[in-house]
Amino acid sequence: MPYITVCGGETFEVDMGTKLVLALEDNGVNILHRCGGNAICTTCRVEVLAGDYLDITNKEKKAFENKGIDDQLFDDCLRLSCQILVNGDITVRPILTVENTGKTVGPRPAD
Ligand code: FES
Repeated sequence: MPYITVCGGETFEVDMGTKLVLALEDNGVNILHRCGGNAICTTCRVEVLAGDYLDITNKEKKAFENKGIDDQLFDDCLRLSCQILVNGDITVRPILTVENTGKTVGPRPAD
């Protein structure tokens, strides 16, 4: 089973195919997900620091472009954690959390 390492945090093991945003939330990371995992809000974005997860989808590109996020940034390392199924080890840095924004999470994304 793959391991997720959170920058500055813990490492935990998850079932293959677990949605990254849910894996983070269920392991104590209060990452935002304000659109319920529909690739609209981009608040669930993470910086991928290690792991083979850099092929961004068109759905993610469109979401980032709609939010005015620089394409160099998302080409290099940003992904939407609601769009990633964990199928290998990954190290991430969550960008927006309840703690660093003071915002609340939205509906829980589907499994
Ligand atoms: S883009 Fe909104 S939860 Fe992922």
